[in-house]
Amino acid sequence: MRSPLQLDVFTLVPHAFAWLCEQRPVASVLGDGLDLRLFNYRETTPLRAGQIDDSPYGGGAGMVLRVDAVAAALDAVYGGRPDHRVVALTPQGRQLDQRLVEELAAEERLTLLSARFEGFDERVVEHLATDEISIGPYVLSGGEIPALALVDAIARLLPGALGSDESAREESFSEALDGGLEYPHYTRPAEFRGWRVPEVLLSGNHALIDGWRREQSRARSAR
Ligand SMILES: C[S@@+](CC[C@H](N)C(=O)[O-])C[C@H]1O[C@@H](n2cnc3c(N)ncnc32)[C@H](O)[C@@H]1O
Repeated sequence: MRSPLQLDVFTLVPHAFAWLCEQRPVASVLGDGLDLRLFNYRETTPLRAGQIDDSPYGGGAGMVLRVDAVAAALDAVYGGRPDHRVVALTPQGRQLDQRLVEELAAEERLTLLSARFEGFDERVVEHLATDEISIGPYVLSGGEIPALALVDAIARLLPGALGSDESAREESFSEALDGGLEYPHYTRPAEFRGWRVPEVLLSGNHALIDGWRREQSRARSAR
């Protein structure tokens, strides 16, 4: 059995993760499959009064997360630069997709660095991080939502995340669907306001249903 994935998140808002930790799949894997640790840059900053940001050289709006504050946080936890992947969450990074989530879920240790304000001093990305990941081509106010998205996506791939529920195996972007999109689902009532569930799903013929689902998945993926 693999040891739990040690997933460390550095953030200015650790309490943002409380809700996620109470929900499946994260709640189901905490302990055996996932060792999630949260660190606040303010607790280890070498600067006075918990300072972690500063105004940008060259002028301009906003504040920048200081490289010495981030380095001090990594030093405090790892005693130097860690020998595992350290991901800086930025809008400029490699765009997150399911393949990248699978790659990260296979790591034994992983660190996520989130920023706020105008973002990181670029030396964090150049010298302290090994990877730069974006969750999409838009700007959020901080790295907490990107980190939450990554923790959730990784957690559902860890052993025990979904219990006896098989839904993770045959879902969008999975190998079972050749990396394509999942087929549509329906539940009771079979008819609502004249909107009928496709007859094939009511047929009880599993081979037909399976064929219909594959066809729907292929059609959606080709759109
Ligand atoms: C307000 S944003 C900084 C935006 C930056 N000034 C820019 O224009 O690209 C503050 C922080 O939120 C996080 N963030 C915002 N959008 C993100 C995204 N799409 N993917 C990953 N992280 C993001 C990053 O940690 C970023 O440094």
